[in-house]
Amino acid sequence: MPDDLTPATDRASVDTVSTDRPATSGPAGAGAGTTGPAGLAGVEAVPGAAKPDALLVVDDVVRRFGGMTAVDVAHLEVQRGAITALIGPNGAGKTTFFNLLTGFDVPDGGAWTFEGRSLAKKSAAKVARTGAVRTFQLTKALSRLTVLDNMRLAATQHPGENLFASLVPPLWKKREAEVTAKAMELLERFKLDSKKDDFAGSLSGGQRKLLEMARALMTDPTMIMLDEPMAGVNPALVQSLLGHVQALRDEGMTVLFVEHDMHAVRHISDWVVVMAEGRIVAEGPPEDVMQDQAVVDAYLGAHHDTDLGDDSLLDPDVLARLAAEEEKR
Ligand SMILES: Nc1ncnc2c1ncn2[C@@H]1O[C@H](COP(=O)(O)OP(=O)(O)OP(=O)(O)O)[C@@H](O)[C@H]1O
Ligand SMILES: [Mg+2]
Repeated sequence: MPDDLTPATDRASVDTVSTDRPATSGPAGAGAGTTGPAGLAGVEAVPGAAKPDALLVVDDVVRRFGGMTAVDVAHLEVQRGAITALIGPNGAGKTTFFNLLTGFDVPDGGAWTFEGRSLAKKSAAKVARTGAVRTFQLTKALSRLTVLDNMRLAATQHPGENLFASLVPPLWKKREAEVTAKAMELLERFKLDSKKDDFAGSLSGGQRKLLEMARALMTDPTMIMLDEPMAGVNPALVQSLLGHVQALRDEGMTVLFVEHDMHAVRHISDWVVVMAEGRIVAEGPPEDVMQDQAVVDAYLGAHHDTDLGDDSLLDPDVLARLAAEEEKR
């Protein structure tokens, strides 16, 4: 493992945010081959491992910026109906990889399929329409629109959206009512319903993350890709966010999420994929992967004495202060 990787220990989400949530994703903590409901039992914990029911299959996806190779993924399969965490140090290429897969960036080479269909060269809007939606590390909610309007706008990517319906008022009105009802249902689910008429810009960082996730769900995706959904979210909200992610998986959705909060990763993931310097360097059940010395080294740099997901890192005073700050906003 190269030693010039930036350690992620400067991230507030690593050492100050606790989830303290019991593992409810099946016997994920029981080691290799027992990853519970997601059908990953018996899958070999090696980079590029074949999955029994792969929804997303990636081959030789490369992205270079000048002389630097940001992403170089030889092979990756993402299991349908599972929560897969994509972890790795700052600059590992996780966001760039998401950008490539979702049509927000174009690779120098490679191929990938979603439900067996090639997504390469498809625009971001087309990718979303196939059922793969993503959220952003820096939230993209439109701050001068209300929370509800942000939700409604997200529905315009809906597969059912068509020009004919938009030109016939009765159809259009019915659709609008449906969209609003769906938006309100999701806002209630994420406890944002009381904020529906507030500008999105007035929300706290954590609430914006929730809005981002709620927006993504407006299109009933098959797979949701979350880029650091817990970053900057207060501990109480992290708890509910994790619960939401698990609920989505339990409803049959496939979740791929990037996260630096190792507690979150450990507690909700069925499978963990580790990226370093653009490559997949490890994958497997969370308990196994997070004990892997190469992974610990990549993450913690010089801080080898610190365990990933060590609860002693969590200072109750820091947590209380964070919670108080979030309340005040
Ligand atoms: N548009 C760009 N132009 C040039 N270099 C870029 C660009 N986007 C990303 N990079 C570089 O690619 C590498 C991977 O960045 P990326 O943002 O994908 O990492 P990451 O794993 O998401 O990191 P973090 O955990 O900090 O979010 C970094 O070295 C970054 O500086
Ligand atoms: Mg990133």
